[in-house]
Order: sequence, then C-alpha cells, then structure tokens
Amino acid sequence: MSVTESKSNAKIILMGEHSVVYGKSAIALPFFAAEIIARIQKSDSDISIDSEHFSGKLSQAPSLLKGVRNLIYEGLKLLNMENEKIKITVESTIPSQRGFGSSAAVSVAIAKALFSYANKNLTVEMLTDLVGKAEKTHHENPSGLDGDTIISKQAIYFKKGNENIKLNFNLDLDLVVGDTGVPASTKEAVRKVARNKDKEPFIEELGYLSNQVLKNIRNRDGESMGLNMNQAHRVLSQLGVSTDELDRLVNSSLKAGALGAKLSGGGLGGCMIALCKKDKTQDILNELKESGASSTWVLDLKEI
Ligand code: PMV
Repeated sequence: MSVTESKSNAKIILMGEHSVVYGKSAIALPFFAAEIIARIQKSDSDISIDSEHFSGKLSQAPSLLKGVRNLIYEGLKLLNMENEKIKITVESTIPSQRGFGSSAAVSVAIAKALFSYANKNLTVEMLTDLVGKAEKTHHENPSGLDGDTIISKQAIYFKKGNENIKLNFNLDLDLVVGDTGVPASTKEAVRKVARNKDKEPFIEELGYLSNQVLKNIRNRDGESMGLNMNQAHRVLSQLGVSTDELDRLVNSSLKAGALGAKLSGGGLGGCMIALCKKDKTQDILNELKESGASSTWVLDLKEI
C-alpha cells in the first residue's frame, strides 16, 4: 500500500519569547537536528492516528491532540475528502514540551502530508493558517513565531502582523542547546506572564533586547549579542518563567566560557541556549552534562 510522507523540523527561539505575544519582535532559528515525520496511508476503517501520545481513532484522541485533530478535519475538508479513511502515523525525534516547537512541527508535517496524499498544492498561506489554528487550540494565544520559523526553514526576525525578515547569521560562533529534561507547558508559561500585573516594563525591555540582537547579528558582534542574551535571561527570570534547573544550566555555561546564555522558549522547564566561540563549545557541553542537562546539541551559526 502506498504511503505518503512529509517532514518538518524543530525551532529554537534566540530572543523575544513571551514579549512576542505582546507584539514585540523576536528572532528564531530552525533546528534540523530534530524532526517530525508524518506518514499517511489509505485505511479501510476510520481516520486513525498513531503517535507517541495516542494511538487509535482520531475522533477519540485526547484533548492534548485537539489542535491536530481539528487540523486534520479542516485539511480534509479543504481537500473535499471529508469521508476519506486514512491512517496517520507520526514519528518524532523532537522532545515535546521543551521549547522546540514540537506542536507546531507536528501540525506542519501532518498538513503537508495530507496535501501531498491528495496530490494538491499547499500554499505557505494555507499552511500558516492551518498551523496557526492548531496552535491556537493548543496554546490559546500563540504569537505565530513557532509556525512561521518551522515553515520558513530559515532564521527569521518576527513581529506579529509584519512580514518576516529572513536572516543569515554567518557567524563563526556556536549555539549550544541544553535540555533541562523538565517538560514545560507553554500555555502555563504564557498564562503566568499574562497574570503578572507588572509585566509591562519587562515586555518592553525584552522587545528592545531583541532589536539589539538583530543589530548585533548584522554587525557580527558576538560579544554584545552574548551580553544581550544574559540580560534577556535576567528579565525572563524576573517575569517568573525561569527555574532553578534553567538557571543552573545558564550559569554553568557562562562559567565554562559562553559569551551569553538564556532560557529558550516558554520556560518553566525545557531548554536553554548558550552562545560561544568554537574553542569553548566542548567545555560548555561537558559543563552542561555535569550540571544535569538531559541532552545537548550544537548549532553552527556559520550555517544559519
Ligand atoms: O515554548 P515554545 O517553544 O512553544 O515557545 C513559545 C514562545 C512564547 O513566546 C512563549 C509563546 C508564543 O506563542 O510565542
């Protein structure tokens, strides 16, 4: 039986998480070390899904998959295939709930696979819309940053309602990613910030720092970029979305020679990133492991 397959990648937020929800700018990068593969094949019973979170009839999928479920129904409707019986299999190497955008990545891979199965063209606008709706179900108030970064497969400067600016870093630096191993809910983190009555100056500062980092990238100034990342981490901590585990990994990477480090994504667990010169990468990886990182990765900013 023929199987249609589509892939998507993860993403890393460099700057602007949380403030991006309030209309400030953010910078994010695609992360190709982890990916999602969605496979679709004809089935003789119902529409079913086989994933790490649930296997069975799509109509009985748990609320965690509500966004994806709606996306599949809407995709089939757009394709005039509401009555098509299919089996969707999702394979993922993207750790979920760690700030890698796994929910948006699943949506992208499934939407692409659906259209490819039907042999129909899926425009970027349609894909962005389908993924945006799924993310809304999942996170209530998503900025759209995750979906846009994953769809564009390029580093972007993002501001809600504006056209994304594609970025080329081309910097002789590495970005080390450390996973605390602690799952975190983006929805909870976004709610926590929303409840904070004193958030305004922090949101302003995060937006300012994001713009500063855009300048740092353009001026190829890694030292200043590191300092701006450190400041962003302090502000995110003040907003209440850092944790002891994140702080420990951030501090240990700085001790090992990083130019700057911060949490990445929603926080309350998940991942952190450290910017460094290439001769410090291994020391930072060792230090992160010693400090309890469950996994680490390296992104070469020359290739971004
Ligand atoms: O936790 P993640 O990687 O899905 O990142 C969410 C980023 C936020 O700014 C916190 C939320 C959003 O919708 O942009």
